[in-house]
Amino acid sequence: MDRVVRIFDTTLRDGEQSPGCSMNLDEKVMIATELESMGIDVIEAGFAAASQGDYAAIQAVASRVRSSSVAALARATANDIDAAAEALKKAVSPRIHTFVATSKIHMVHKLRMSEQQVLEHTSRAVAYARKLADSVEFSAEDAGRTDPDFLVKVCRTAIKSGATIINIPDTVGYLTPLEVFSLISYLRIHVPEFDSVELSIHCHDDLGLAVANTLAAVEAGATQVECTVNGIGERAGNAALEEVVMALCTRRPYFKVIDRIDTRQIAAVSKLVETITGFRLPPNKAVVGGNAFAHEAGIHQHGMLASKETYEIMSPEQIGRDEHRLVLGKHSGRHAFENHIAALGYHHLNEEQLRLSFSRFKVLADHKKRVSDQEILSIIDSVCRFY
Ligand code: KIV
Ligand code: ZN
Repeated sequence: MDRVVRIFDTTLRDGEQSPGCSMNLDEKVMIATELESMGIDVIEAGFAAASQGDYAAIQAVASRVRSSSVAALARATANDIDAAAEALKKAVSPRIHTFVATSKIHMVHKLRMSEQQVLEHTSRAVAYARKLADSVEFSAEDAGRTDPDFLVKVCRTAIKSGATIINIPDTVGYLTPLEVFSLISYLRIHVPEFDSVELSIHCHDDLGLAVANTLAAVEAGATQVECTVNGIGERAGNAALEEVVMALCTRRPYFKVIDRIDTRQIAAVSKLVETITGFRLPPNKAVVGGNAFAHEAGIHQHGMLASKETYEIMSPEQIGRDEHRLVLGKHSGRHAFENHIAALGYHHLNEEQLRLSFSRFKVLADHKKRVSDQEILSIIDSVCRFY
């Protein structure tokens, strides 16, 4: 039987950490409502101690959302954890998410703590958080560059102190998919408690590997994936929710996992986040880009007209878009051209009219990236007038 993978969305927290991408309270509630409706398991609403605005947004999201868990981030200090717990008071299913850096680089330069001190800090923070919430997630910040044996100790310490979810962040997007697979496999072998505690993955996209790394973690047995809508987030961003979810859905027989996401809401959520943040999607963005379901090459268009399966591994309808777009450009073939003009209402051109219209269209398309319907109509008009 396929196992369950939980989807943790951090658009409102890590996503908002994208330079130039802040959202106001109403916008955050709007996004959270959409995320809840699409079936996200956990919505991370903010970093409670970071600002008054973050605190208020967590409170508002916690009051509004009923069927997803709501998480708030906290450094491993009593003040931060208190702020998170307080902000989450109205949540039906609150989660405190606390973290400590565990890589040598962070321990030496940022925390100035020894391994022993980091273990004690972890234990104290998790035990304290656990007094305030039943669901406590612990993240080993920069786990991707942490010595795996020390990471094992950190995970076991956090679990012993009460953590119910352990998150493994590749904070700086350093790992490759094979390394992630090995690390998660190693942790599953050496932390037997993972049989009863969630094992989560959180990847950044500095090398463009966040989605691939997240999927590698799923293959190795991760039970929760952390991602953001449109992949927004610190620096190059986080693993893109829509890409992870559609990979798991499209390749379900391969991954053998299920989630609760209603994929038909993906396009709408993506658009909402794009509009609110002002972060425009490139046309070739996987799954939600403007060209994700567009076909211009003649051979592709011919194939699509015969059967959509020839060039599409998922349908636009699956993500809530309503059409395939056969784009007419210089690569388009006569078959697609005929279909297109038929859709514009021109079914009855004779052979000569069709030949001439198509050849004039090709001349124009050679000079322009896209030929508009208006231009196609005027070609047909002029051809039909004389032939
Ligand atoms: O990237 C990271 O390490 C984080 C943690 C706080 C989970 O965002
Ligand atoms: Zn992060």
